[in-house]
Amino acid sequence: MSSTPTPHRWLRWPEDRATPRLGFGADYNPEQWPREVWAEDVRLMRAAGVNIVSVAIFSWARLQPTADSWDFAWLDEIMDLLHANGIAVDLATATASPPPWLTTAHPEILPVTATGETLWPGARQHWRPTSPVFREHALRLVRTMAERYGDHPALTAWHVSNELGCHNVYDFSDDAAGAFRDWLRERYGTLDELNHAWGTAFWSQRYSAWDQVLPPRLAASHPNPTQQLDFKRFSSDALTSYLRAERDVLRELTPDVPVTTNFMVMGETKGMNYVDWADEIDFVSNDHYVLPGAQAHDELSFSANLTGHIAGGLPWFLMEHSTSAVNWQPINVAKKPGELVRDSLTHVAHGADAVCFFQWRQSRAGAEKYHSGMVPHAGEDSEVHRTVRELGATLGALAEVAGSEQVPARAAILFDWESWWTSELDSHPNNSLRYRQEALDWYSAFLAAGVRADVVPARADFSGYDVVVAPVLHVVPGALAERLQAFVEGGGHLVTTYFSGIVDEHDHIHLGGYPGAFRDLLGIRVEEFAPLLDGETVLLDDGNEGSLWSEPITVTDPSVEVLAWYKTGEHGGRPAVTRRPVGSGSATYVSTRLGTGLEPLVRSLLDDAHVPGELPAAVRGKVELAVRGTDEHEFWFLINRTAEQVDVDGVAGDVLVGRRPGAAPEGTVVLSPRGVAVLRRPKV
Ligand code: GLA
Ligand code: GLA
Ligand code: GLA
Repeated sequence: MSSTPTPHRWLRWPEDRATPRLGFGADYNPEQWPREVWAEDVRLMRAAGVNIVSVAIFSWARLQPTADSWDFAWLDEIMDLLHANGIAVDLATATASPPPWLTTAHPEILPVTATGETLWPGARQHWRPTSPVFREHALRLVRTMAERYGDHPALTAWHVSNELGCHNVYDFSDDAAGAFRDWLRERYGTLDELNHAWGTAFWSQRYSAWDQVLPPRLAASHPNPTQQLDFKRFSSDALTSYLRAERDVLRELTPDVPVTTNFMVMGETKGMNYVDWADEIDFVSNDHYVLPGAQAHDELSFSANLTGHIAGGLPWFLMEHSTSAVNWQPINVAKKPGELVRDSLTHVAHGADAVCFFQWRQSRAGAEKYHSGMVPHAGEDSEVHRTVRELGATLGALAEVAGSEQVPARAAILFDWESWWTSELDSHPNNSLRYRQEALDWYSAFLAAGVRADVVPARADFSGYDVVVAPVLHVVPGALAERLQAFVEGGGHLVTTYFSGIVDEHDHIHLGGYPGAFRDLLGIRVEEFAPLLDGETVLLDDGNEGSLWSEPITVTDPSVEVLAWYKTGEHGGRPAVTRRPVGSGSATYVSTRLGTGLEPLVRSLLDDAHVPGELPAAVRGKVELAVRGTDEHEFWFLINRTAEQVDVDGVAGDVLVGRRPGAAPEGTVVLSPRGVAVLRRPKV
């Protein structure tokens, strides 16, 4: 149903513990603590039900104190200690943060910004993804780690580096320039092709030799947009290539040990196109941190949902989230009662088979000392740690969920990195457009309507869906336009919005009027955009309010129905939302930003497409439903979106988590404030 399946190998649990289970644990950084604390750590881990930890992520300087000396004794001891206590190890390759001896000897590995400044050591991830010198030293470490620990019984998976690209995705150094040129040669073959793709007839940018081509370093004015787009593609690919290099060493030396790396499908982290990355590893892992705000939990669900579909619907590993506050936002708020467990179980609901945190024991020193952990500064006698233990028990009760897959919804929201990158480039009609926010607003509207929607990458197979929403699908190569056309002609209902269908893969305009690639399918034509100023709004005749964008739409196909009209503004009296019936399918267009006003539109779309809600009507909007399944069962996750108790009546199933006050299997399920219930039901 979803993406191309990735080659999937899950954790290699130690033989004696091979029964199905959900992983539960954390990043564990024992090198920050004296040895006496280690015994205490494993005692508390056992009591909490921890069964897996990630070790050695930032240990390079400790493992290799100088270019020619190694110190593995402490890690040997930790691996043995964890194994003796029944805790598996997701072992990092330890390459995430190069040690001072390396950067001192080889400052040429340090990344350079667009303005030519060096990113110096002192924090972490100060390395160029394309540096051959860095790669040589890092791969030597990977090899040494694989040789030393490949046969260790605690080793359950390899964790390549850490959050590749978090701080170093965009490097403008000379190494990057050289690698960018190689990448461009590979993509375009000839300079003529590059000149065409980049539209270099504009502003006298024509290249006559490859060595003239540079990354988009600080320029006098708006840099070439296709150069910017290709640099984004290249930068993501450069990290993929690095990921592959580490993976290949691991596969060569330890072919039986699965390899993963932690993605950051969250918030505005947009530099890495994880859809491509998923094919390079044995299973997908993700890190997610909640950003405060009205859509905080919706965003978590959106990210988890998308992560699952990047993983092809198969189980994935939640490598990091937080028990409570983080340290890196302007104001770092603690989680409210119920949120720790609800956040964790929302990830599980969308396919996570492991729930891990950054980090086990909250640091005493360093930049992250105010970041929460599973053992906070207050110690085991704390609300956070008690909740951690409760969560461990809850995950234990969900063991049978392990291995089940995401059960597809009937509606999908298309999420496309290329459109994200391109729609937010500069020199556009409205630079306030935020691609991910648009997609999230649609997702929130589905949640408010109480109907499931999958968040899927553009390569997903649309054919199983009744409704596909493609917000701001800006970059539309011919093949994608054809696939969406076929979806509609096959009876599917497509919804798209302003600034969609506008450019091809080179960021060249589809000529003849907007929305270019979708003009005929939608049966409309727009000659000029009419963006709205910050704070400016327009009223629609259905009572909704539009912001950010508007358009003077001309209907070109008589079968098009107008679902809503502009009532105020420059284009008052013209269509704002249109729908073209196509056989038993349809193509709908939304020409302004409706934000929270999308909910009624989503409801009517779902009615037209005959997509029923699966939840009892009374709780739609209050409760999120996510479904996982096996050949025999479905697991229904009922997630309370509110801070009040919600009683869900008439949902059958055996309760794995949660409570039914009565005995009847059809009876009420009580969701505590921000609570989650999980039901096992026969597969339909
Ligand atoms: C990331 C990193 C961790 C830690 C956390 C803090 O996810 O991978 O090492 O810095 O953020 O939130
Ligand atoms: C200036 C420049 C033109 C063009 C316009 C766009 O006037 O001379 O080349 O860039 O701005 O507004
Ligand atoms: C910052 C932090 C990282 C990571 C991201 C999440 O960059 O330093 O540890 O958690 O935010 O967006």
